[in-house]
Amino acid sequence: MNNPTKTSMPPGPGTPGRLNQALFLLARNRLFRRWHDQYGDIYFLDIAGFGPSVVIRGAELHRKVFTAKDNVLHAGDNALGRLLGDGSIFSMDEEQHLAERRKLLPPFHGERMRSYEKLVEDEANREMDTWPLDEPFPTQKSFNMITLRIILRAVFGAEGRELSELEEIIPPMTRYGQMKVASDLLMRDYGRYSPGHRWESLTARFHEIIRVLIEKHLADPDLDERIDILALMLNSDLEQGHEIDFRATGEELMTILLAGHETTASSLAWTIERLTRHPEVLDRLTAEARTDENDYRLAVINEVLRIRPVIGGTGRSVFREDFELDGWTLPAGTRIICNIRDTNLDPEVYPEADRFNPERYLGKKPDTYSWIPFGGGMRRCIGASFAQFEMDIVLRTLLRRFDLATTSRPPEREKFKGLAYAPAEGAVAMVRKAQPKVEELRPADLVGTESGQA
Ligand code: HEM
Repeated sequence: MNNPTKTSMPPGPGTPGRLNQALFLLARNRLFRRWHDQYGDIYFLDIAGFGPSVVIRGAELHRKVFTAKDNVLHAGDNALGRLLGDGSIFSMDEEQHLAERRKLLPPFHGERMRSYEKLVEDEANREMDTWPLDEPFPTQKSFNMITLRIILRAVFGAEGRELSELEEIIPPMTRYGQMKVASDLLMRDYGRYSPGHRWESLTARFHEIIRVLIEKHLADPDLDERIDILALMLNSDLEQGHEIDFRATGEELMTILLAGHETTASSLAWTIERLTRHPEVLDRLTAEARTDENDYRLAVINEVLRIRPVIGGTGRSVFREDFELDGWTLPAGTRIICNIRDTNLDPEVYPEADRFNPERYLGKKPDTYSWIPFGGGMRRCIGASFAQFEMDIVLRTLLRRFDLATTSRPPEREKFKGLAYAPAEGAVAMVRKAQPKVEELRPADLVGTESGQA
């Protein structure tokens, strides 16, 4: 943007901080877009709870922010980090953050990640065994269950009693945790029946279970050979001579769970919501799922993540020294709100940006700074490849087992669930047992079986 008189902060709506806080909670998507249209790709916004902030949109500004040094822009002071504790990567910056990423990143990539394929497929099948045939039902709940079980088994290495108890306490914990991120005041402990009290007691129980789980891992003579991510974290600590910190390990596990479970489930739900409204895409995807190919499926996943990003924005804050951005000099303490959604939908980059068109990514990788559903730079989501891998296997499993019916109902609206944006009606869909298409039938199928049935 061309700004003739640049001061330290760009112009923006002059609405007061408290009002902006309420607007942010109620209607941020619509307002952020409207203000971008009015003020350009960067504007000033005072938000109570955040302080003086700038909101940014577009590849160029995000490139500048995501590539800034980690001692220039921080990210460790945020509501999620405060909720989860000092042991969470969300609370860390600079050296400590880098060391934690080194520890967490390897298990979520490459061969290690692919070793979870059977587990993902098994969990998808287990949940899909319960699906009704020929009647509409909201699929989001099932995707929540699948992604929860995958994390509990692949990351926590939980089984038996600990697995069942965690399966039970995590859904309410996630619910209360999201409420606490939205309003700390509301979620204080006001006595036995208050949500704040429930959150505290569930968290205490969670840490007790994690202690048992860690003790079991440490007592396992084959700890070295275990493939769950908790075992890898413990091995890495032991190799470096660090004492095992039960509390911090529990906080990091909770971080991975909160960050990785509903986000992936909601992205799967959006995939179903989009596919059931795009018959031509669904046909092509279904045909491919019954082969060993997945190029089109990966393109579909990338396009869903672009057009329906479940995390609408992320943030950084200017640490000690002023930060130059688009010609403005942002003073220390300024928050930078990265507008993921409007960057993913930038009409200057994406022709017909609001059209669901997986062909955009057929044989083509998404661009690093204009496709940012996983954020970017040193804080880019560590579970990005894992989430795409999970989505790939769950979709393949679904489309091999079932024919997904299309619908003429209007698109589902977005609903903010405290952490992620999900389809408001829960991604309603209807499935029936997969039928081979006429052209897929072998001559023997057409003449009938021994029992004489066609
Ligand atoms: C479709 C699913 C997912 C989406 C859309 C998503 C999105 C994001 C976004 C936007 C960020 C902030 C990045 C930034 O500030 O630049 C993030 C961070 C993070 N995500 Fe994800 N995520 C997903 C799945 C997962 C999964 C499966 C895991 C782990 C199993 C995970 C773990 C994390 C962690 C630990 C961070 C913090 C990284 C850091 O601070 O260095 N996420 N994610």
